[in-house]
Amino acid sequence: MRLQRGRMQKDPYHQFDAWYREYREVATHDPTSMILATADAGGKPSTRVVLLKGYSPEGFLFYSNLGSRKGNDLAANPRAALLFHWPEKERQIRVSGPVSDLDREQVLEYFHSRPRGSQLAAAISKQSRPVPSLHQLVEEHHHMRSKLEGQEVPLPDDWGGWLLKPEEVEFWQAGADRLHDRILYTPEGAGWKLDRLYP
Ligand SMILES: Cc1cc2nc3c(=O)[nH]c(=O)nc-3n(C[C@H](O)[C@H](O)[C@H](O)COP(=O)(O)O)c2cc1C
Repeated sequence: MRLQRGRMQKDPYHQFDAWYREYREVATHDPTSMILATADAGGKPSTRVVLLKGYSPEGFLFYSNLGSRKGNDLAANPRAALLFHWPEKERQIRVSGPVSDLDREQVLEYFHSRPRGSQLAAAISKQSRPVPSLHQLVEEHHHMRSKLEGQEVPLPDDWGGWLLKPEEVEFWQAGADRLHDRILYTPEGAGWKLDRLYP
């Protein structure tokens, strides 16, 4: 079915929610995976896959190491873009906007909801910096597991999360003859303006 502005939800949160629920039914890989694009202080861009850990009318949540490349980028330039590519539905969603740090309590709660092996991995990771060998990585994980036997894994100081507040959200759906549907949401007053874009 073609996308029609008049049949779309009035805000991007509800439209994302509707598409996400449809996609979850047919996804052949983790439906929460998304591309996160950041840029450093000099404007040099980089991308990577991260997992969407929540969404609400406030924005999109993700977690990572604060000292990683993305962490440094976001500290220097707190804006980012997300891309969801859902080929099984011939759809993509682009989101961009300012990013803010999550408070430590929210990060702590999410950290302890993760599998213990992942918590231990975060505790030893100096993410995105060189590690001398695979052997050292596995040894450090093993050592941390023994050291913290029977104890809660403390939240590493360099582990955190962000909320991306959408400023632009575009819903794209493939159409015949490359007459694809593109509907762009941008803020207008207290609500959102919807524009159809040429494909
Ligand atoms: C499916 C998938 C999910 C991932 N999820 C996360 C995630 O939620 N958080 C994270 O920090 N890295 C995640 N990664 C690893 C990142 O893609 C990336 O390698 C890492 O965070 C370092 O990125 P950076 O050096 O650009 O900061 C994931 C990778 C894949 C392939």
